[in-house]
Amino acid sequence: MAQLVGGLATSHIPAIGGAIHKGLQQDAYWKPFFDGFPPIRKWLGRVKPDVVVIFYNDHGLNFFLDKMPTFAVGAAERYDNADEGWGIPTLPPFKGEVDLSWHIINAVTEQDFDLVTCQEMLIDHACTLPLKLFWPDGECPVSIVPICVNTVQFPLPSARRVYALGRAVGEAIQSWDSDKKVAVMASGGLSHQLDGERAGHINKDFDLKFIDSLLTNPEWATQFSIHDLVEKTGTQGVELLMWLGMRGALTSNSASVRKVHSNYHIPISNTATGLLALESAGPS
Ligand code: DHB
Ligand code: FE
Repeated sequence: MAQLVGGLATSHIPAIGGAIHKGLQQDAYWKPFFDGFPPIRKWLGRVKPDVVVIFYNDHGLNFFLDKMPTFAVGAAERYDNADEGWGIPTLPPFKGEVDLSWHIINAVTEQDFDLVTCQEMLIDHACTLPLKLFWPDGECPVSIVPICVNTVQFPLPSARRVYALGRAVGEAIQSWDSDKKVAVMASGGLSHQLDGERAGHINKDFDLKFIDSLLTNPEWATQFSIHDLVEKTGTQGVELLMWLGMRGALTSNSASVRKVHSNYHIPISNTATGLLALESAGPS
């Protein structure tokens, strides 16, 4: 059976793509953000996952307000990045892990989750930038299964529901008949609000408590409604739902987790950036 090796989580911001393109990693503004990644890349170089299952939110590239699925899973041979209008260079296509996509789709549907299945799916900065941050050099060495969670148009799925989806996805990964190593990844958050009266809203206390909860009490954030989460973390801060999907997946085999590394830096653009890597440490 496939091995679930751990979880990764990072914020996403289109400007990161511009900074990578211009080689600004050592620039004073960007350094505290980019400096979080080398310890995690070192761990990834050791663990060498073959496949990454990514919880992310599309921002209007593949799904627009006219048709907005709550949960959508990619089942494509390849995923193209396309111009989202942010002026960032597009990345080469990413390779899909189709067999795992269908295994996850079948397994979580059996667990009463209703999904949109996408045999064609454009992926935006939320899916591509984390892959580039964790594997910066050359062609991306992992194949992917993108899982898109709506955080754009209300109503949004609850924190409780995304955590439960993550758990079902984790169980599916571990029942996949393959000798491949699989990591789960979350892209989004932490606190940020891009528009309206509270544009620029950041909640450092909540963010740090949230990161800590993923180690000590992973269900902590599921007590909050979407309204609570927007109030605490901003309209786009609800992207932290992805971190709950990732963490739910790691809980699925009642394995304990070990923190590999974390980082928190505010702000990059309008966003509080968080970074976390967790290793599955075997049954507790
Ligand atoms: C920013 C943050 C996001 O999550 C996003 O999708 C786009 C922009 C920002 O802070 O600029
Ligand atoms: Fe976003």
